[in-house]
Amino acid sequence: MAYSTILNVMVGAARKASRPIRRDFGEVENLQVSVKGPANFVTKSDKRTEDILSNELQKARPTYGFLMEESGEIPGTDGQHRWIIDPIDGTTNFIHGIPHFAISIGLERAGTLVAGVIYNPITDELYIAERGRGAFLNDRRLRVASRRKLADAVVACGIPHLGRGDHELFRSEIGKVQAKAAGIRRMGAASLDLAYVAAGRCDAFWERGLSEWDLAAGILMVREAGGRVEDIDGGSEAMHTGNVLAANDELFTQMQKELKIGRQ
Ligand code: IPD
Repeated sequence: MAYSTILNVMVGAARKASRPIRRDFGEVENLQVSVKGPANFVTKSDKRTEDILSNELQKARPTYGFLMEESGEIPGTDGQHRWIIDPIDGTTNFIHGIPHFAISIGLERAGTLVAGVIYNPITDELYIAERGRGAFLNDRRLRVASRRKLADAVVACGIPHLGRGDHELFRSEIGKVQAKAAGIRRMGAASLDLAYVAAGRCDAFWERGLSEWDLAAGILMVREAGGRVEDIDGGSEAMHTGNVLAANDELFTQMQKELKIGRQ
């Protein structure tokens, strides 16, 4: 498939960064048996991945700014463009040798998401999206699933863990969804959860307390696949509030109703 120039740059950076990740992942699998585990090793891998991505993107577009999970905000000189990067989304999976994590790169122009790449280097699944041009998985055009009933839907979610988020609220929300949906999944990488909604593998996804780098590329992916992504409690600013709900139009409304009941 012929990519636009900007997607070429983004895919090239993701592929380059993926080689050391694959090598490190093999090492992580060996480190599971050590008492300390691979956590420190993975932190280094995260940082190295971020450096490779930012170097590649900077070479191609020297005036653009960055928002990155490890290094934070680095303003650009053009004041218009910003790369939003999670070098390894799904770090906990990575640490535990679970091959479900991704490089996530979003590009914003004047505050609007215009391009996104999500790449799982282990399964070699490459998701790309460009504003107004659709979303694709390894060259196959994506559409969100068209199921209309929650009773038929598989819903992905994020579970707040130790020291994070409102556990009680989550328990009441999952209770409501559990009573209505065909199945619930917690896979551990928000960018891939959104990509799975875009690909019609999951019918909906909700999670609270995410960061912009977890969301940028995935939000565009779902929108370009014809889905709806908004803040759980209303409004289009999910990327800034971090509380995200994604689905087709019909299921979005049903999910929002259940999550609202969960809050009462
Ligand atoms: C995490 C993953 C996970 C979500 C967490 C995120 P990270 O990102 O997306 O699915 O539940 O809230 O922090 O830390 O692995 O980049």
